[in-house]
Amino acid sequence: MIKLKSPKQIEKMRRAGKITAAARALAGKMVAPGVTTREIDKAVHDFILSQGATPTFLGYSGYPASLCISINDEVIHGIPGKRVIREGDVVSIDVGATKDGFVGDCAATFIAGKGSAEAHRLVEVTRQSFFEGIKYAKVGYRVSDIGAAVQSYVEKNGFSVVRDYVGHGVGEVMHEDPEIPNYGKPGHGMRLLAGMTIAVEPMVNAGGYPVKVLKDGWTVVTRDGSLSAHYENTILITNGEPEILTVAGEQ
Ligand code: MF3
Ligand code: CO
Repeated sequence: MIKLKSPKQIEKMRRAGKITAAARALAGKMVAPGVTTREIDKAVHDFILSQGATPTFLGYSGYPASLCISINDEVIHGIPGKRVIREGDVVSIDVGATKDGFVGDCAATFIAGKGSAEAHRLVEVTRQSFFEGIKYAKVGYRVSDIGAAVQSYVEKNGFSVVRDYVGHGVGEVMHEDPEIPNYGKPGHGMRLLAGMTIAVEPMVNAGGYPVKVLKDGWTVVTRDGSLSAHYENTILITNGEPEILTVAGEQ
């Protein structure tokens, strides 16, 4: 069931989105060689609480942390712990915050230290693929138009789009209908409606698209061991350009 948001609810989504984006920015600034992923988790957890919000991921289906940190061949759902970030690591941060009963969900990939040219290109193509996708995130288009644009841009650049995980509606819970795949043919799926709030989140692999889940039951990695990057924002569908809700002055 699709839940269109009222102006009041949209205002709450904006507030949740701001906090979530600020949490992402904070985590991104901490990404550096020598820092443990647990330190970043702790800082973000404390920041979210300081904003009168709660970390949406913590306890979600038993997830044990406040954000996901996925490094190099890890695609999504990496669990923070004692792992030390190293020079050149490709570090994807995914975070959610719930404020006043509404959820913000966003992600971005950061490079620790200098990083390879390939890593920088992967991160940039992944981020841009989100913006290519949301050119179609408005009334008059259908859900699959977004994914078709993401896929075509990513593949034109020689990378591949993960198929097993998709974007989603977001609102009073993190995962609402509809699913928003990052691949597929245009012109399918439901028509986009003003007042829909959705998370568009391309996950892009430098090699092939197949992924697998590690024995911890969470961490998703590329099957071929290639690097992966992630970029996500919660957006509001309008009659005109989409409004990115997970903004905090940075993008
Ligand atoms: N942004 C992710 C998603 O959209 C976050 C889920 S991680 C979990 O599914 F730990 F909370 F499950
Ligand atoms: Co999401």
